[in-house]
Amino acid sequence: MSTTSLPPTPHSTPGVTFADPWSAQAKRADQGERPLIYVNGKIVPKGQAMVSVYDHGLLYGDGVFEGIRVYRGNIFLLKQHMDRMWRCAEAIRLTIPISRDEMVKVLRECIQVNGKSDAYIRLIVSRGAGTLGLDPRRCPVAGVICIVDDISLFPAEMYEKGMRVVVANRPKTPAACLDPRIKSLNYLNNILAKCEAIDHGCHEVVMLNTDGFVTEGSGDNIFYFKGGVLHTPPSDAGLLEGCTRAFVMQRLAPALGFKVVEKNFRLDELLAADEIFLTGSAAEIISVTQIDQHDGKVITKTNVISKGEGPLTKRLRAKFREIVTGDPVPEE
Ligand SMILES: Cc1ncc(COP(=O)(O)O)c(C=O)c1O
Repeated sequence: MSTTSLPPTPHSTPGVTFADPWSAQAKRADQGERPLIYVNGKIVPKGQAMVSVYDHGLLYGDGVFEGIRVYRGNIFLLKQHMDRMWRCAEAIRLTIPISRDEMVKVLRECIQVNGKSDAYIRLIVSRGAGTLGLDPRRCPVAGVICIVDDISLFPAEMYEKGMRVVVANRPKTPAACLDPRIKSLNYLNNILAKCEAIDHGCHEVVMLNTDGFVTEGSGDNIFYFKGGVLHTPPSDAGLLEGCTRAFVMQRLAPALGFKVVEKNFRLDELLAADEIFLTGSAAEIISVTQIDQHDGKVITKTNVISKGEGPLTKRLRAKFREIVTGDPVPEE
């Protein structure tokens, strides 16, 4: 293998030498500094993976990202993740400095050099280094980072027992301000909602929009079953169009004969559900069995949805696991 198989980026300017990913240095790093990370045209050990402090991704959360799963060496729903990344970049007027084919090559190289077959990919395109001002025109070249690492899932027993979540008092950022369909590096709204979960000993929150309709979790989409029918909010409620969400709606639910309804609903409707679950690339499909409410200090209401993971969620999750452990794992 040689560096020539690595997509050059505009950072690979003539006269500047970058680390050879398969150099003695990188090989030495294999022993202690895993994973090897792609940063702006080179693959370097984790401890050397750095960006400029003038990068607007760092200064302003100006950029986009993806979280992707690798199962059995395949990049699950690769096409959907690439589609979303390009769509989101365009929405924030960010030009991705390498082609889609080159990006896919970067992902595969990172999987390969790290010897992973099951992993999580964090792909970032930042506005790049500029000045201290906001003006994105002062950032001539966007930055690309690809991290392939192990995935830390929720505890295994949580998938059977189900998860307790809390309703966030902080509403979702309205689409007119910053469309939640854009998977931007600016996740403060989600992080502060997640802090509400942490404050009350939960892993996740249910976020409502400013009109009181249910949107999603801080890092997952939400579904509920009522009378055997699957429901989920539409993306214009203010949520990320999750790749796992679409996979559930377009592939899993039809395969199992479940009808899917996309509609706006409020908390009371959610609380009357038979079963609730969350979806995401990291979490996959995880049941929610209790939804609590709080007043900023203490839990004021406890709502039990089901005792453990419900039977329909179990069937969906089993189908999901069958596909991601099967052959071939779908890349689209
Ligand atoms: C806010 C939010 N919603 C939903 C999701 C689930 O999306 P996906 O299934 O593409 O991982 C994520 C995951 O990144 C997220 O951050």
